[in-house]
Amino acid sequence: MKVQVLIPLIAAVLMPAAALATPKANAKEGHEIYESKCQMCHGPNGEGNANLAKMLQATIPPLGSKAVQAETDVQLRLVIEKGKGKMPAVAGLSATQVGDVIAFVRTLAKK
Ligand code: HEC
Repeated sequence: MKVQVLIPLIAAVLMPAAALATPKANAKEGHEIYESKCQMCHGPNGEGNANLAKMLQATIPPLGSKAVQAETDVQLRLVIEKGKGKMPAVAGLSATQVGDVIAFVRTLAKK
């Protein structure tokens, strides 16, 4: 095989590996995860599902609020993975998916 053919070939093999080595939270992926795992309780924009809050006798803080946004990514990850107060742990998400959904929650911050 000629060198001119090999170089792009090697690049094509190495590039996805490089992308994997530096995982970056993806808010767009996170939005889809949010819609399937969080929206029923937190509403489409994180404002909270009032009926559900009443049913659970819980206060669901708006996810864009200062109080929630002031929490660190580590704290938010704990809430999602372990649950908090009346919120049950959210099952079935990989560590990467939790990172993505946190990135989406960050986009809800009130300007
Ligand atoms: C079954 C309903 C339900 C689901 C599903 C759910 N939540 Fe919650 N969430 C709640 C309730 C209820 C609270 C308020 C908890 C409390 O303080 O008692 C809450 C609170 C929170 C808080 C605020 C925590 C704090 O420290 O005050 C965050 C952030 C949050 N949820 C994120 C998420 C994300 C992200 C998902 C999806 C991956 C999710 N929730 C899925 C019901 C839910």
